[in-house]
Amino acid sequence: MAIGVFDSGVGGLSVHHALVRRLPTADFVYLADQANTPYGGRAGEDIVDLTRAGCERLFESGCDLIVLACNTAAAVALRRLQQTWLPGYRHARRPRPLNILGIIVPTIEAATGLPWTHEPQQPVDKVEHVDVLGIFSTPATAGSRVYEIEIDKRSGDVAVFSEPCATLARQIEAGVGADELRAVVEGHVVALTRRIGRSPDRAILGCTHYEIIADLFRAALPAGTPLIHQPDATADAIALYLQRHPEYDPGSGGGRRFLTTGTPGVQNGLVEQFWGEPLTFDAA
Ligand code: DGL
Repeated sequence: MAIGVFDSGVGGLSVHHALVRRLPTADFVYLADQANTPYGGRAGEDIVDLTRAGCERLFESGCDLIVLACNTAAAVALRRLQQTWLPGYRHARRPRPLNILGIIVPTIEAATGLPWTHEPQQPVDKVEHVDVLGIFSTPATAGSRVYEIEIDKRSGDVAVFSEPCATLARQIEAGVGADELRAVVEGHVVALTRRIGRSPDRAILGCTHYEIIADLFRAALPAGTPLIHQPDATADAIALYLQRHPEYDPGSGGGRRFLTTGTPGVQNGLVEQFWGEPLTFDAA
């Protein structure tokens, strides 16, 4: 068996990287849907269909557990697939356990310091200090308002402001130069700061592509602004899930396969810099 990791492109490698560090002996298959990237400006139904196709491909390659390392897919498609598609698909393939997990739940747990199952709290009358959380994401993730809704339910003293970044995932996918990326990131930090009326106290890079250029976000935000690190939060949550669910066998050969629906071959310089060496993808 292996653990499947899915993203529209190379962004999910940031999560894959943390998963591999956390579970070094597990076998992983990474699938990038580069024929259809980016997802962030697509219609919801389109994102659901593409995510389902990606999951089918990973289940067919022998993965029983899939991590959607894509906020857009997790925000827009995960619940739909878990409710309407996965039960029948799993039933037809029993006794394989088959499941799909996302990255938003662990990120919200890390942001609130509360377990997902924490009872939604009663409205708070008076809040002494509001913790302002800025979230940079794709337009589809921002439009879903998942972070605002779920954090608001749990923490009355956290105010969430989202900044949709329409072009950034595509630019990272295309490997554009650092100067161009820096200008775009700075523009989004300025726009968010204006909307809030001050700088955020903390930030989430709510698109896995942005982790690849996390340094540019760190440089654009006021020095020392804490970033909630989505890949580490996800890796911890998946390791715990595997402990609690021994029916999922993550493998023990340390296998790493990288597949793309796009053009196979070596990924761009930004990815190489992040990964530390050239990374070659095979045809999915
Ligand atoms: N990396 C993905 C995310 O976390 C998708 C970006 C995109 O395809 O637009 O949202």
